[in-house]
Amino acid sequence: MPMNRRILLNEIPQGKLTEAHFATDEVTVLKPGDGEVLIQTLLLSQDAANRAWMQGATYRSALSSGQVMSSGGLGRVVESNDARFAAGDIVAGDLGWQEYAVLPGNEVAAQHPHQGPLSHGLSLLGVAGLTAYHGLINVPGIHAGEVLLVSAAGGSVGSLVGQIGKIKGATVIGVAGGPEKCQWVVDTLGFDACLDYKDTQSPLRDQLKAAAPEGIDVYFDNTGGEILQTALFAMKLNGRVSCCGAVSMYDGKPLPGPYGIPGLLVTKRLTMKGFLVSDYRHLDQDAFHDLSMWARSGDLMVVEDIIEGLDNAPRGLMGLLAGENRGKRMIRVASE
Ligand SMILES: NC(=O)c1ccc[n+]([C@@H]2O[C@H](COP(=O)([O-])OP(=O)(O)OC[C@H]3O[C@@H](n4cnc5c(N)ncnc54)[C@H](OP(=O)(O)O)[C@@H]3O)[C@@H](O)[C@H]2O)c1
Repeated sequence: MPMNRRILLNEIPQGKLTEAHFATDEVTVLKPGDGEVLIQTLLLSQDAANRAWMQGATYRSALSSGQVMSSGGLGRVVESNDARFAAGDIVAGDLGWQEYAVLPGNEVAAQHPHQGPLSHGLSLLGVAGLTAYHGLINVPGIHAGEVLLVSAAGGSVGSLVGQIGKIKGATVIGVAGGPEKCQWVVDTLGFDACLDYKDTQSPLRDQLKAAAPEGIDVYFDNTGGEILQTALFAMKLNGRVSCCGAVSMYDGKPLPGPYGIPGLLVTKRLTMKGFLVSDYRHLDQDAFHDLSMWARSGDLMVVEDIIEGLDNAPRGLMGLLAGENRGKRMIRVASE
């Protein structure tokens, strides 16, 4: 009987996430029941949201202690009792941090067919790419000549948002942690500028004033917190804010704020709109088309940060929350 190595969320963190919040075990691989599919995990997505799920119910139910750590991923069907899937199919689903998952067929999605590497199913054509695309194109929209500000600019969503902004003819300013990452965002991703929110000598509001003296048209907010607050003060009249997530508030106790709401929204006539990537499922085909085309033409660089081995998943997630990743972080559990 093959064994299934799993990483469990042993305890819900109250402060910062540590390795002590996880435990590893091995159990026998389950047989799929009626309508179920047995999947071998190949690649797991590492997302800032993995940490947010530990805080309580959001757009999905909260995680609980003792369960296999949840995570989206790609895997290969080993055995299927659902007519829609057959052994050998590559599928996506909430596979969790484990080598094998048994899921109901209606919680499994066939992989969007594409020519690139399998990993593109989690980066360019996965949640990261779709979030960047819909959260920019279909939420605030972006026009040539506008100034776009993007936080978590070196991460999986932010790195794509800024590049899409450039493709659309905007001036793109990133916000990221540390001088090396900021340099990389400019030199490698092609942003016009990148501001270091960790710089203790130069406050972000001063850096922003220098980089965008006329102000910001569109802010793509991945962080919430102080960066959002600083951005609100720098918005132009009628500026638009796309609220994608709040990674500065996921790992540990969030600071109060941001201040300036609703005052700044009123005086500057700002629009702030939150979204979930799934809201735009009806437009996913447009996103697949454009993202694939831009990647093929070389206008869009897909940056992937793949860590080998399931056992490195806790360290990988902690590292992502600490800003260690560049582009889309994933865990390779088994090779194709
Ligand atoms: N709305 C949706 O449907 C949807 C879907 C997917 C993702 N999201 C959101 O997209 C955002 C990015 O998530 P991701 O999974 O792609 O992660 P990611 O951007 O690849 O990685 C997270 C990044 O956040 C930055 N960060 C961490 N703590 C921070 C802090 N206190 N202040 C500022 N930056 C901080 C780090 O970069 P630095 O080195 O720059 O600090 C880190 O690399 C998250 O807010 C997530 O919730 C939303």
